[in-house]
Amino acid sequence: MKKFKVTVLPGDGIGPEIISQAVEVMKLVGEKHGCGFEITEELLGGCAIDATGVPLPEKTLNTCRQSDAVLLGAVGGEKWDKLPGHLRPEAGLLGIRSGLGLFANLRPAVIYPALKNASPLRPDIVKDGIDIMVVRELTGGIYFGERGRKETQDRGQAAYDTELYTEAEVERIARLAFEAALKRKKKLTSVDKANVLESSRLWREVVVRVAKDYPDVELNHMYVDNAAMQLVRRPEQFDVVVTTNMFGDILSDEASMITGSIGMLPSASLGSGTLGLYEPIHGSAPDIAGQDRANPIATILSVAMMFRYSFGMEEAALDIEKAVNSVLEKGHRTADIAAPGENYVGTREMGRLIREEIERGN
Ligand code: IPM
Ligand code: MG
Repeated sequence: MKKFKVTVLPGDGIGPEIISQAVEVMKLVGEKHGCGFEITEELLGGCAIDATGVPLPEKTLNTCRQSDAVLLGAVGGEKWDKLPGHLRPEAGLLGIRSGLGLFANLRPAVIYPALKNASPLRPDIVKDGIDIMVVRELTGGIYFGERGRKETQDRGQAAYDTELYTEAEVERIARLAFEAALKRKKKLTSVDKANVLESSRLWREVVVRVAKDYPDVELNHMYVDNAAMQLVRRPEQFDVVVTTNMFGDILSDEASMITGSIGMLPSASLGSGTLGLYEPIHGSAPDIAGQDRANPIATILSVAMMFRYSFGMEEAALDIEKAVNSVLEKGHRTADIAAPGENYVGTREMGRLIREEIERGN
């Protein structure tokens, strides 16, 4: 039997509770599809700071490097907010992305038919649904460029962050996005700010060059301000969106919110091999931690992405996605996706319902 090495990073806040539901789903689906797991749990984020003084201990990074896949809950919380930048929980997240060479972040924003009314957009805008794949560059740009502070003569301190992209960095993310588009509706929108930024002009040049290898994909370019507006004006015009680290951070939050269910959306961070990091898009929600109130679906759907991208097990991925869909169709909800006055279940019960559905084979 094939055995995959999975490193689990529960993290902070609601991380541990949603992770435990997702791990149960992973084991069940593995059993059904004939694979097993060697699971190692490690520290990342605030819990790692408390235990070791740093957000990303060496041991965590090494264990992740030796795995087939990494499953992450969420990191961060008020308790660690006053620490200097390089010691915050978020620095652990950035460190693991770059330490594992995960340069592409796939964030699908999908509206579930059963949750159509949850979208904050008018029904005539949502029409038949929203299905956008945001491909965000994850290990370059302003997140990783040179930054610092300096004294000025007479105007106090100055601070700067640098947006820098190499042709090689743009080319590999563009290729990955074109490949993704080929498997979908064959439409790719590259988002930049080429009317102002030199880094964006290089970005656009490289994307245009890569496009020659993908004649079947229809490519268009959009400035980021316009893209932010078009996402709420006519979301159906988008299929795959490829963009820089920071623009992708912002637009993926927007894209997820128009589906009305940020608690439902998974993500995959990929590099040049099959090792991937899978995590929900939402944060650690410290205010509801430990109360069995969090929605585990985004993390469970992240496990589906893990089967798809790291293990090459499409059927297993579909099993999970179908089970989530049927649970929603049957009207089960967690608090965050329940309509006012509607009944809802807790984290554990939602996990159990999804596993029941998988066992039933729906
Ligand atoms: C995300 C988050 C992170 C980011 C933070 C927590 C560092 O917002 O994954 O989108 O900016 O990348
Ligand atoms: Mg973000």
